[in-house]
Amino acid sequence: MKEQILGTGLSGLVGSRVVELNPDLNFVDASLESGVNILDKKQLKQFFKNNPGASTIIHFAAFTDTNAAWNQKGDKNGLCYQLNVDGTQNIVDLCKEYRKHLIHISTDFVFDGTKKTVYTEEDTPHPLDWYGETKYLAEKLIIDSGLPASIVRIAFPYRALSNTKVDFVRKILNKLQNNKPVTMFTDQKTTPTFIDDIGLGLRFFMDKKPLGIYHLVGPTSQSPYDTAKNIAQVFDLNANLVKSSSLEDYLQTPNARPYAKNLSLSNQKFSFESGFFPRNITAGLQELKRQLSLLPSLQS
Ligand SMILES: NC(=O)c1ccc[n+]([C@@H]2O[C@H](COP(=O)([O-])OP(=O)(O)OC[C@H]3O[C@@H](n4cnc5c(N)ncnc54)[C@H](OP(=O)(O)O)[C@@H]3O)[C@@H](O)[C@H]2O)c1
Repeated sequence: MKEQILGTGLSGLVGSRVVELNPDLNFVDASLESGVNILDKKQLKQFFKNNPGASTIIHFAAFTDTNAAWNQKGDKNGLCYQLNVDGTQNIVDLCKEYRKHLIHISTDFVFDGTKKTVYTEEDTPHPLDWYGETKYLAEKLIIDSGLPASIVRIAFPYRALSNTKVDFVRKILNKLQNNKPVTMFTDQKTTPTFIDDIGLGLRFFMDKKPLGIYHLVGPTSQSPYDTAKNIAQVFDLNANLVKSSSLEDYLQTPNARPYAKNLSLSNQKFSFESGFFPRNITAGLQELKRQLSLLPSLQS
């Protein structure tokens, strides 16, 4: 019989691919579609009660629109705070009651980007925006609860196909394929991560249930400008359409939303303990291209 894993957010950009890549597991999703709102304690409790066989829950569900989150800054009645903090608290309470191991998906946005070198799990978060702040509050409440939990930070996830939202790589690719220019920061660093590697890498947490914080990210940290150039190169598109801009300049404009300058994350702890090495950006893009080529009608 397949091992049962409970989940939230399994219909989302990342969660849906995790399900696809682990067909030997029986995922059960607490989703709005299946009638389980994580903000409704009764519905959530019934979900836990109905699925006593699972020892683990993997929690993806979150308010992930960072721009919309910024407009809710400080609002504890806003959906961003409610989903990311209150929703996580509800999960934590039930994990305690029903003795489940929690795998909580978090984000690089917990860091402020002022560090000059790569961020490790030892670094103290200091989020710049409301989304990052609510995700950090969720991490803290999990740690304070004493619940056996893995907190897994991911960053800039991209994949070949998604029925839900379009990730940053697909946005750039779509523009380049339509001969439109893309303007990207040269003075920011991010750590793009191929979602298939998140899907496979999460197996370590489901199988071994390690405790603590982990960075499950790709090994390449570079500017969004360089990533766009990589995309043009791998897909044989016009790299001259990739134009440069400056985050430093953007931050000087009135009402600029804060963005972290350095979101380089180290995956050393994760790779050392799991023996799994996520692909670098070029290898990730090449695999993405291969997967798209199998579905030519869906390429645009
Ligand atoms: N995407 C990124 O760039 C990124 C980067 C770093 C970290 N992360 C983290 O990775 C995780 C997954 O992100 P994602 O981009 O895959 O998310 P997503 O595509 O935005 O999906 C959000 C998921 O949450 C579910 N959900 C929303 N409200 C709910 C509620 N009240 N009750 C139950 N489920 C609810 C949605 O289900 P419905 O379909 O039913 O609405 C959906 O499955 C999040 O924790 C996020 O913070 C994402």
